[in-house]
Amino acid sequence: MSKDFRLLVKNAKQVVLVCTNGEKFLTGKEMQNIAVIENASLVIGKDGLLKAVGPVDRIDSQFQGASFETVIDASGMCVTPGLIDAHTHPVWAGDRVHEFAMKLAGATYMEVHQAGGGIHFTVEHTRQASEAELLASLKQRLLRMLRTGTTLVECKSGYGLEQDTEVKMLSVIERARKDLPIGISSTYCGAHSVPKGKTAAEAMDDIINVQLLKLKEKMSKGELHVDNIDVFCEKGVFDLECTRAILQAGKDMGLQINFHGDELHPMNSAELGAELEALAISHLEEVTDNGIAAMARAKSSAILLPTTAYILRLKQPRARDMLDAGVIVALGSDFNPNAYCCSMPMVMHLACVNMKMSMKEALAAATINAAYSLGKSHTHGSLEVNKQGDLVILNSSRWEHLIYQFGGHQELIKFVIVKGNVV
Ligand code: NIG
Ligand code: FE
Repeated sequence: MSKDFRLLVKNAKQVVLVCTNGEKFLTGKEMQNIAVIENASLVIGKDGLLKAVGPVDRIDSQFQGASFETVIDASGMCVTPGLIDAHTHPVWAGDRVHEFAMKLAGATYMEVHQAGGGIHFTVEHTRQASEAELLASLKQRLLRMLRTGTTLVECKSGYGLEQDTEVKMLSVIERARKDLPIGISSTYCGAHSVPKGKTAAEAMDDIINVQLLKLKEKMSKGELHVDNIDVFCEKGVFDLECTRAILQAGKDMGLQINFHGDELHPMNSAELGAELEALAISHLEEVTDNGIAAMARAKSSAILLPTTAYILRLKQPRARDMLDAGVIVALGSDFNPNAYCCSMPMVMHLACVNMKMSMKEALAAATINAAYSLGKSHTHGSLEVNKQGDLVILNSSRWEHLIYQFGGHQELIKFVIVKGNVV
């Protein structure tokens, strides 16, 4: 017999709602006050949306006599919203373990890149890989992310740098979106690097007049769905003017602007992003005070990537200055062959220890603010009625264990739930 609701999670020690008043993002002191309720239950409907969350007694009486497809007794456990990874490069072939040794021995990211390694190495392997190979490795990585609590992830192309491989990567992302329960926001990042043998101006011309037109055609036929446009705005890659032209062309065809900026050198990327009303700018290790103020005014979110600064021994992004200035701060793993980390709990831990964020700030940054950076905070990022029922259930009686524990999260994370289904 068909049941009334999909899931009841009952009697949790703590449920972290994150926000309660329909906020689309949290800034400043609001991030210190994320909502946590003790001894609570929640219900997810057959449409995958959250129907109710509140104290055990209230939910018991509200749903007396109702039937559920699944019931989880969460006594002694905690519930948080599903984690959101706002920045990843998960489609590629050929890892770069050999470069890790070079970097440990002192080579910088740009030295490796200029010697033909880095992104160029991955581009060569990704161009040669078949769609089936790329899909298989992408699925493995996404499943690994799910197991550490990520229920929505941004996925970039960008290891093709020419039309066919970029389309191949985006098609693979599209396939994974259909085959796996994890939510995906997809990003065209054809301007991830200047392909060998081309100038930045030639690459820009190809992106604007060839690749973007192809994407537009495929999107209008319903063959591809792309959400965001990205450029690596960096000295020796795409300068400010090339970046502006590419982002504007993407915006003109309806893509959300979400790009790499101010990572290795101050480029005024933050100022540019604010001017173009970018939804998000990533990295920002070298952002200026003006850039921070401009992002706060424009509500362009900052996606901070603690793994990159850690692995490349860069200076840390100025999380505290951004938080104090009212910037919408989000977090991402930056999973890629340089920063091989799939785990948002590890990212939050690094954000707290190295970037001096509090645990509440880190959780808000990895949920509601990450959702905002992808244009999805009306449906994702907090446990509010009518939002998507994506949850993480922890085998601990305080939610902070999700950040406090450093690695080994498979013991801690008891269930990951997407749209009310245990995945
Ligand atoms: O976000 N900075 C540019 N892109 C990536 C690195 C990609 C790669 O090295 O393959 C990043 O860190
Ligand atoms: Fe990146």
